Amino acid sequence: MSTAREPRGHGRKSRRGRPDQRHNAGPPRRRHGPARPPDVDPARQAAFELLTAVRERDAYANLALPAILRRYRLHDRDAALATELGYGTLRTQGLLDAIIEACTDRPMSHVEAPLLDALRLGAYQLLRTRIPPHAAVDTTVDLVRGRAGSRSAGFVNAILRRISQRDEAAWAAELAPPAEEDAVGHTAFRHAHPRWIAQAFLDALGPAGRAELDAALAADDARPVVHLLARPGEITAEELALACGGDPAPYSPYGVHLEPGTGEIGELDAVAEGLAIVQDEGSQLVALGLARAELDGPDEGRWLDLCAGPGGKAALLGGLVGLDGGTLDAVEQSEHRAQLVRRAVDGLPVTVHVADGRAAPLPDGAYDRVLVDAPCTGLGALRRRPEARWRRRPEDVPGLARLQRELLAAALRHVRPGGVVGYVTCSPHLSETVGVVTGALRRRDDVEQLDARDVLPGVPGLGPGPSVQLWPHRHGTDAMFLALLRRSR
Ligand SMILES: C[S@@+](CC[C@H](N)C(=O)[O-])C[C@H]1O[C@@H](n2cnc3c(N)ncnc32)[C@H](O)[C@@H]1O
Repeated sequence: MSTAREPRGHGRKSRRGRPDQRHNAGPPRRRHGPARPPDVDPARQAAFELLTAVRERDAYANLALPAILRRYRLHDRDAALATELGYGTLRTQGLLDAIIEACTDRPMSHVEAPLLDALRLGAYQLLRTRIPPHAAVDTTVDLVRGRAGSRSAGFVNAILRRISQRDEAAWAAELAPPAEEDAVGHTAFRHAHPRWIAQAFLDALGPAGRAELDAALAADDARPVVHLLARPGEITAEELALACGGDPAPYSPYGVHLEPGTGEIGELDAVAEGLAIVQDEGSQLVALGLARAELDGPDEGRWLDLCAGPGGKAALLGGLVGLDGGTLDAVEQSEHRAQLVRRAVDGLPVTVHVADGRAAPLPDGAYDRVLVDAPCTGLGALRRRPEARWRRRPEDVPGLARLQRELLAAALRHVRPGGVVGYVTCSPHLSETVGVVTGALRRRDDVEQLDARDVLPGVPGLGPGPSVQLWPHRHGTDAMFLALLRRSR
């Protein structure tokens, strides 16, 4: 459960006394009466606006939120509350919808979208935060009354009151598929994941999967710790941890884990000065894995990143290759994202190319190390992309797998004999990981797969190899996948 509480002075109804003095226990009650002006704190309005942006504009929550927080002038606790409510509601959407559906007589398709957003926001507060139920209901009802009138407010009030009569575990016990009939569906429901994603995790976890699925989904459902990358040659992880009040990461020598509630990351001096960037430790490890892989022949310092946007791994690889006087070519198909790469690698020996990585105007057989951080479903980074788990569809996988195969084939063209390709996804889905690598190995008899566990010494639980799958519940990282393929000389 979240520790989200009321920000000081918000969510209170001073004209009617404090809500927690009006109702001591039991389901919250609403007074009926004429509509009155909205009396909703800006944090909830901001969270509601985030839900609207994601629904109407297909916005990415993490990209849309900063502008919304600025518009509502939210900082510190208020910004934290808006983030928690917005992200939490998006993350939990399918679970909330099942519970809302059980509490309404109307088919869900007949509930207007803004009302559904408000219901989700209210239900999230009731089920997954410590916000007092009356505050959760009253503020949501006020939000709806201010925007849609009293009838809609009454409808929302009635449903939220029903939801508030049980906690999340009790609703799950009633609504989840029975474990004995559908163990995967049951676990998926309890941790607010679509069933097909739970199944994909189970498939990738291998023989240990049954015992681990619960922990894997629970970790994926938790609010993630923010990780920083200490840019090589600029600042050490120890210095960065001291400067930011975090801890050096357990596995990446360049990583720092920030304390929860660190606040605006962009305002940390080290980040503002460009000494550090936000990057999951798993992303650091897979990029480092490629940098450490054993080549056949000397490393001349000619490296390539074939899918570089927005530039996190290009910043790490560019920093590393630059320490030894080498260079990195960074390819990105989208001009907008290429611009983000330019910003991320400013000052590094990196050349950014806007091109399709499958046909980039770069030499074949020329690079010592090539990274393919392929576009993927992102199922391994769902905890950092709140809306993604309900937006992604299983039908997305085959098209992405085709693109991934083509990008890997291009990488194997660009790498020199004796050089290494690192194939990376932030998805553990077997069709995007092992399936793509196995296909490439089948098609090429001049490529051998290296054991990627060898380049991550000290990292436990990497599985049977030769590829590596990281997991939030085992490593505290995103579920990154790494395979290392070396071209023979
Ligand atoms: C998983 S992201 C890469 C993340 C990046 N390596 C980082 O660490 O910041 C995949 C990127 O590939 C880009 N992309 C998609 N199709 C591509 C293609 N055909 N050629 C090159 N880049 C492509 C996407 O725009 C996206 O920026």
